[in-house]
Amino acid sequence: MNARTEQNNKPRKIGVIDSGVGGMTVVREIARLLPDADIIYFGDSANVPYGNRTEAEIIDLTCAMLDFMRGKDVALVAVACNTISTVIDKFQSRYNFPIFSIIGPAAAHVAASDLHHVGLLATEFTIKTGQYQKLIHERNASITIHAKGSKNLAALLEAPEYDEAAVDEEISSLLSALAKEYPVKYIILGCTHYPIAIKLFNKRAPDIHFIDPAALQAEEVRHFLESQGYSSYRNSGSLSMYTSGDTESFTRILEVLGIQMPHQIHAAEK
Ligand code: DGL
Repeated sequence: MNARTEQNNKPRKIGVIDSGVGGMTVVREIARLLPDADIIYFGDSANVPYGNRTEAEIIDLTCAMLDFMRGKDVALVAVACNTISTVIDKFQSRYNFPIFSIIGPAAAHVAASDLHHVGLLATEFTIKTGQYQKLIHERNASITIHAKGSKNLAALLEAPEYDEAAVDEEISSLLSALAKEYPVKYIILGCTHYPIAIKLFNKRAPDIHFIDPAALQAEEVRHFLESQGYSSYRNSGSLSMYTSGDTESFTRILEVLGIQMPHQIHAAEK
């Protein structure tokens, strides 16, 4: 009996959660790898940025999103948010679906490289927890991580009135701060909102290679589903987005990221 017959012939969905629109960068990568999977997304835009919150607040807000996913027949939930992923250990024991961190696959990828110096840009919360550093150094202690946190960049990328000049200025100041510390050639975009502005990063630093953890997390999701018999999750390749905030930000982000799959945007309760 495969997973589909166990589920009364109903294909199961892939859940993705984030503090806001940023996790749509993960949706894009999952849809690329698994174009016929149905994805259900929750973005807590009413409470973004998580990166300026306390750990207790982040855990409570995340549990509310995972509770939402409980009723949605998900095969798994990908935590697209790096900030939440720094406290990923707090969640698995409370839920009966597998929960995937975005940091784990990126850290493993970097640790397996022969790089000696790697930059990391993320929220201040993510940087302070030292989770990237810990997970990389557990596998490869010879890599020096040069980290800079931003209080503002995620919120700027989330704002309904997108201010490209302000985003560009923040990116420029983060890259200069990093360059002053060490001239890194590889930088992890350790906040799922940041790849939304990849064109600006590339323009500011054309010689730097930016590592996007979204693609690596999507690869892990695919690997898991294949190990479970992926055909059980094949359906029409649709996307249902729920947000506690403004639905228009999601319309904008779909366009910016070039996501064209059939979709619906729902306002969720705050
Ligand atoms: N999406 C979050 C992350 O990946 C950052 C945004 C926030 O601060 O809520 O870290």
